[in-house]
Amino acid sequence: MSATAEPALLDRLESILGVGGLLTAATDMAPFLTDQRGLYHGNAIAVALPDTAARVAAVLAVCNAERVAVIPQGGNTGYCGGATPDESGGQLLVSLKRLNRIRAVDALNYSLTAEAGCILTDVQRAAEEANRFFPLSLGSQGTCQIGGNLATNAGGVHVLRYGMMRDLVLGLEVALADGRLLGTLTTLRKDNTGYDIKSLFLGAEGTLGIITAASMKLFPRMVGAATAFVAVPDPHAAVQLLARLREASGECVSSFELMPRLAVELTVRHIPAVRDPLDAAHAWYVLCELTSARAADDLDTTLIECLEQARGTGLVVDAAIARNASERASMWKLRESIPEAQRRDGASLKHDVSIPVAAIAQFIERAGAWVRANVPDGRLVAYGHVGDGNLHFNLNQAPGADRATFLARGEAVKRAIHDLVVREFDGSFSAEHGIGRLKVGELERYAQPVELELMRAIKRVFDPHGILNPGKVLR
Ligand code: FAD
Ligand code: MLT
Ligand code: ZN
Repeated sequence: MSATAEPALLDRLESILGVGGLLTAATDMAPFLTDQRGLYHGNAIAVALPDTAARVAAVLAVCNAERVAVIPQGGNTGYCGGATPDESGGQLLVSLKRLNRIRAVDALNYSLTAEAGCILTDVQRAAEEANRFFPLSLGSQGTCQIGGNLATNAGGVHVLRYGMMRDLVLGLEVALADGRLLGTLTTLRKDNTGYDIKSLFLGAEGTLGIITAASMKLFPRMVGAATAFVAVPDPHAAVQLLARLREASGECVSSFELMPRLAVELTVRHIPAVRDPLDAAHAWYVLCELTSARAADDLDTTLIECLEQARGTGLVVDAAIARNASERASMWKLRESIPEAQRRDGASLKHDVSIPVAAIAQFIERAGAWVRANVPDGRLVAYGHVGDGNLHFNLNQAPGADRATFLARGEAVKRAIHDLVVREFDGSFSAEHGIGRLKVGELERYAQPVELELMRAIKRVFDPHGILNPGKVLR
């Protein structure tokens, strides 16, 4: 876009977006121009704040005609820099935050329709008010938006039972690059009518269209929960315990999160009011939860009996069972504060990997040995959604280590970990956080050539002029 075109473009955008719909002052735009980890800092022509799907579509029509790149942004909690514009100052950031109405909750149909800018906790609350349950749950849920969750195909702590965001979607409304609005906001459970176009936007990170609304599945509201913080001798025991709990409780295991001792120490040290639920220190822990929609289910008894049996066979070393809602919340606070505690502790190198559940222990052994031998100034904090085979295989700078020296190891560590994950464990180098800007090179390295070819062909169909989130996912 030429410099002279800019004022005219801003006038057109302003007339589409109405009063308060376009930010151009540097101070107003600043919060939108950096990712939450502080890895990327961009610039923008302006920040658009459309409050209707029609306005999103109209903005895209203008940008497509003028060949202006558009960067969609939800709650800006993503880990891969996908929502940050580049440094050129020639891109338009489109924030969905004002497109935030719950359009419908249909208790009988077990469905909910929400606009993209709804905060995840608002969607959960709307379901609860209808005596229903929306299962997506992440540490960032008070800030991330449903549009961002859809665009990243978010995971979180209930995937084991309910699947990822993709599994919760019934229909989508999407503004396409050329300004057309694709309206497939169906709440049907069955609809085999040709290619499933909507699924392409899930996990596409804003590179194929801007999601403006979604209809999603609801479930019966959970009325009972049994939660335990369990010390286990090693990750192998954790995986075996999960298998036993699933056998013992049927479909009731909703979360199963693994963490090492260091994760507990970091949260206790850095996050106010977090305490270790157990008296003695142990090498590994699992936070597990059974939930049920049946008031009569005695989940505590099921959980305690299973843990006692597991203790008898050496799979469990010790356990604390939450006796009330506040103890349960405090166990979850510990788990959900791990990323923030890591941040406060110093520099970290993060790897969001997945491997088959049964191979987790072997992977941690192999990758852990590599880290101990090659990263003397790093400490391993490998934790995560072990029930999904998803580990946040993170390293933190050791106390007293030099930050820059530690961070300079990032490329070598990433290569070793990702090669091991993909080439020896048939795993994924991005389990739930996506590609964004951060992992474009990794996708090129590990995807099959035919996959990349098809992805590029799909991109050309949806976005022939390359205006949608350029440089993200694909170069
Ligand atoms: P953003 O960060 O704003 O955007 C993410 C990507 O989606 C960008 O590429 C953006 O361009 C695109 N996008 C946003 N909105 C739209 C839209 N309406 N249409 C098209 N594209 C769009 N993630 C997990 O999966 N599991 C976790 O357990 C988890 N825990 C987290 C804990 C913490 C403390 C933090 C900070 C983050 C965590 N995340 C987790 C990562 C992050 O919260 C998720 O990726 C989330 O889905 C991003 O949503 P967002 O609204 O913040 O999106
Ligand atoms: C989590 O599960 O806590 C996040 O996905 C990982 C992170 O925030 O680093
Ligand atoms: Zn996670």
